[in-house]
This record gives sequence, C-alpha cells and structure tokens, in this order.
Amino acid sequence: MGQATFSLAAMPPFSGVRCLVVDDEPRLRRVLIRLLEGEGFSCAEAGSGVEALVELEKGPVPLVISDLRMPEMDGVSLLREITTRWPETAVIVVTAVAEVESAVACLQMGALDYVAKPFHLDEVRARVSQALDKRRLIIENRTYQQNLEQRVEAQARRIEELFLEGVHALVYALEAKDAYTRGHSMRVANYSVGIARALKLDDDLVDTIALGAELHDVGKIGVSESVLHKAGKLSDAEYRHIMEHTVIGARILGPLMKDAPGALSIVRSHHERLDGTGSPDGLKGDQIPFEARLVSVADAFDAMTSVRPYRPSLSVQHAMRELEQWKGVQFDPVIVAAFLKAFAEGTSLPIPTPQLQPLRLPLRAMEARRA
Ligand SMILES: [Fe+2]
Repeated sequence: MGQATFSLAAMPPFSGVRCLVVDDEPRLRRVLIRLLEGEGFSCAEAGSGVEALVELEKGPVPLVISDLRMPEMDGVSLLREITTRWPETAVIVVTAVAEVESAVACLQMGALDYVAKPFHLDEVRARVSQALDKRRLIIENRTYQQNLEQRVEAQARRIEELFLEGVHALVYALEAKDAYTRGHSMRVANYSVGIARALKLDDDLVDTIALGAELHDVGKIGVSESVLHKAGKLSDAEYRHIMEHTVIGARILGPLMKDAPGALSIVRSHHERLDGTGSPDGLKGDQIPFEARLVSVADAFDAMTSVRPYRPSLSVQHAMRELEQWKGVQFDPVIVAAFLKAFAEGTSLPIPTPQLQPLRLPLRAMEARRA
C-alpha cells in the first residue's frame, strides 16, 4: 500500500500531532507507525504499558493506540491509568477479533474506539481521524461547561450583590429617618455575636444572627416619625403602632431573604417573650425561634443602656440585673447566662457603636442562591 494514495494534500492532515503506539510486537508497531507518520503524526513507541507510562510522563500526547495483550502491564490497566492521569488523551485499543468483548469493556472505561486485528490501514486511518474529532468535541464541551459554570457563578455573585444593595438601601433610608436605630442595630449585632460565640454556635449560624440582628428593626421605616421620636410616654395605640415594625420588617424583607429564614425570624420575632405575652405572634418558650430569643436579650440590653428621647440610660449593672430578673419570663435563661459569660466583668460595657460594616449573607444562604 503506497503512501501516495493518502498524501494528496500539500500538508498531511495530522502534521506534527504527537501519538504513542503501544504493542509488544515490534512488527505491528512498525506497521502502525508507518501509517501514522504518513498522516503527519510524530510517533513515539512503547513495548508495554509500563514503557508507555514512562513515555507519557515525559509529556502527554493527544493520541495513544494500544494493544490489549501485553506483558508487564496490559492495555486495560494502561487505559485506566491514562483516563485518570491524562483525561484529554484519546485512546484507541487494538484487539484480536476474539476479544471484542474486552474492546467493548474498554469503550466503557473511556477508550474512544477500537480496531480489531487483522486491521485494514484505511480502517485505522478512519478510526484515528474519528477519535481525534471526538476528543476535540469532548475538550470543547468541557471548556464550554467550565465557562458556563464561571458565568453562572458570576451571575450568582451579582444577584447576591443586588440583594445586599437592596437591603442597604433600606438600612440607609431608615438611618435618614432614625439615626438611633442604625447605631442600636450595629451594637445589638455585636452583642448577639458575642452571645453566639459564648454558646459556641457554628459560623453559619453566627453570620445568620449577625445579619438578622443588624436588620431586626428595619421595619421602623414604616413607623410614623412623630411616634418614633416622641419624647413622652407612648399611648397604647402608639405603642401598638411602633410594635408593628416587626411585621413590617418581615414583610419587606421576606421576598429578599427567602434563603436566610433564620435572619428573617429575628426580624419578626425579636419582641416575643418567653411567657407568651410578646408580639407579634404571642409565641411561647421554644416556639420562639432560637435566633430571635438570642437577639432579644442583646436588644433589650442595648435599649436599656442607651439614652432615649423619653428616658435616661440605665447603668450596665442595672441592665444586667434586669436580664437576671426577667430570665425565664421574658428571656431565655441559657441565653442570658451566655450574655453574662460573654460580657463578664472586665469587659467595658456598653460597647461603643461599631464602624459601619458591609452586610454579609450567611454561607448557607449564599449556597442556596447558587444552587
Ligand atoms: Fe425592635
């Protein structure tokens, strides 16, 4: 068979493409190499799987043509190594006709094709060409998938930014309306994180609590300013109006915070009381979400130790005594204990208002958004 029949084009089709021919019979290797070199391949050869691995370790090749039956390491073991270590290498196995079943097993293991001995050179040529086409498509597909994943990732990040920008807009709007609430919320977040750490909660729950605490009073955006800033005692109707901030906050944030239900429960339930006399739902004991029970202790402590238009601040000791006195009635005793432990003597209380920090989504919420 003359090479002239398949070198009509000025350049052979696979000019410079490297390949490795693996066969323990030197005569068969020579036949294949002559054929492949005629197609432009630059060929290396190996007499066994072990020799083939030595060749591949020098540098991966796009194509391996390998016999199945060989000493030292057979074609199946070699195929397994190649698909694991060099997944972009196309493997064609060469089998005896009687071994077609093994050839099919090789296809299942990742070989791209097989040729049965005795083979026709035209057939080998066609199989090689097809295998390299398949390999190109597989690589293109993989690259496309990776690009797609990167784009999805970038979009998920953008959605997250948009969510936080939306929440920030609310926080800024509230700050413009009621400067006290922002400083209060930041301090409550800090106290809450202190309690959460004293209780050794996992990082995700700590983030959830920090986010919920920072946003817990955001519903005050819907409370009338005259009531919000009233210096004197509130009437019953005014008190009820101000307490609507829990429901308003949960309604505003609900659609935005579907993936962070723990944080949302803080917004709605931070004025519940253990004895069931709180608002808005009159939940009792364990019915009150844990995160909300935790933030309510921090909230009460900061409210008591801050100066408000209608009263001076209580001393730290007085506020601590109040927490002790109302534990089991208004507050969860475990959380009060954690607060006292976290801010034991020696901590300078009340804490100053922390610097404005960017809001962060809890890790689990971020994962849910990306799923
Ligand atoms: Fe509140």
